[in-house]
Amino acid sequence: MRLSAHLGHLVFGLTLALGLTAAQAQSPIIIKFSHVTASDTPKGRAADKFKELAEQKTGGKVKVEVYPNSTLYKDKEELEALQLGSVQMLAPSLAKFGPLGVKEFEVFDLPYILPDREALRKVVDGPMGASLLKKLEPKGFIGLAYWDNGFKQMTANKPLLLPADFRGQKMRIQSSKVLDSQFRALGAIPQVMAFSEVYQALQTGVVDGTENTASNIYTQKMHEVQKHLTNSNHGYIGYAVIVNKGFWDGLPADIRGQLDAAMKESTIYANEIAKRDNDDALEAIRKAGKTEIHTLTPEQTAAWRKALVAVHRDMASRIGKEVIQSFYEATGFDPNKS
Ligand code: LMR
Repeated sequence: MRLSAHLGHLVFGLTLALGLTAAQAQSPIIIKFSHVTASDTPKGRAADKFKELAEQKTGGKVKVEVYPNSTLYKDKEELEALQLGSVQMLAPSLAKFGPLGVKEFEVFDLPYILPDREALRKVVDGPMGASLLKKLEPKGFIGLAYWDNGFKQMTANKPLLLPADFRGQKMRIQSSKVLDSQFRALGAIPQVMAFSEVYQALQTGVVDGTENTASNIYTQKMHEVQKHLTNSNHGYIGYAVIVNKGFWDGLPADIRGQLDAAMKESTIYANEIAKRDNDDALEAIRKAGKTEIHTLTPEQTAAWRKALVAVHRDMASRIGKEVIQSFYEATGFDPNKS
């Protein structure tokens, strides 16, 4: 025991003397990747793909441990854990960076701002996507990629067909002020809650309803405790894959390059599977037969848009007018057109 402690010190001393970082000294290098969704979601499958590719490309010098479904940390805790270096990689939803002080990401939460995935690609693969990721660095994070999930649907125990149907409904939201404003614009009562707590809150009536992508609704079994789903596609959920900056900068350059390549490939994979995963999940919700699925008429959609586009103006001072404007330019969204 004592001998091994001595040896440990010796190796540590030698490591420092050779100028190696803690990451290099550890063999294999461990990347703990914590996330909150189930493994069979777009994010869960992309995280597993990254693990496979990273271990393969580094020839086993890196081991990725994926912890899905909030098994390690919930939403808020995982960001703190990444800052502290207790985990090395996360993929939080873009709606969860506001409390960290990076409010610009909430532009993605503005209702209807992304008409389709093509528009999304123009934003995240262009200069705007890169400049948003840069804003994470002063917080101790490096943004490596954007991973897709999809468009959100509304659920509740009553049909939500017109803005007036939301009045007084308690709706669970992610920690985004834009989402808070979105539900207030509909006369609902928003409540921030960790993703891992949503099923129980819906089941026990702590909240009446929520919004999420079909893949998240289905894999968390929310549809079992929600009688109605509106196929509204009124907003978007996607992710920023982030790493602890100290950890990443401390990696040997060749390994960092291999991990970058693994991330590029898993991002292509993530963005390829996301739409189908959500389409399949919506179909599975339909088949489960517990939730009535409503499709809005063009008149109902117009009423939602009219009520919700006002949120863009209300949130301009928080997000930044120029950020919203560049988003409009990239996506072709026109707030004056219904
Ligand atoms: C949510 O909290 O609803 C989502 O951000 C969960 C996720 O990571 O997709």
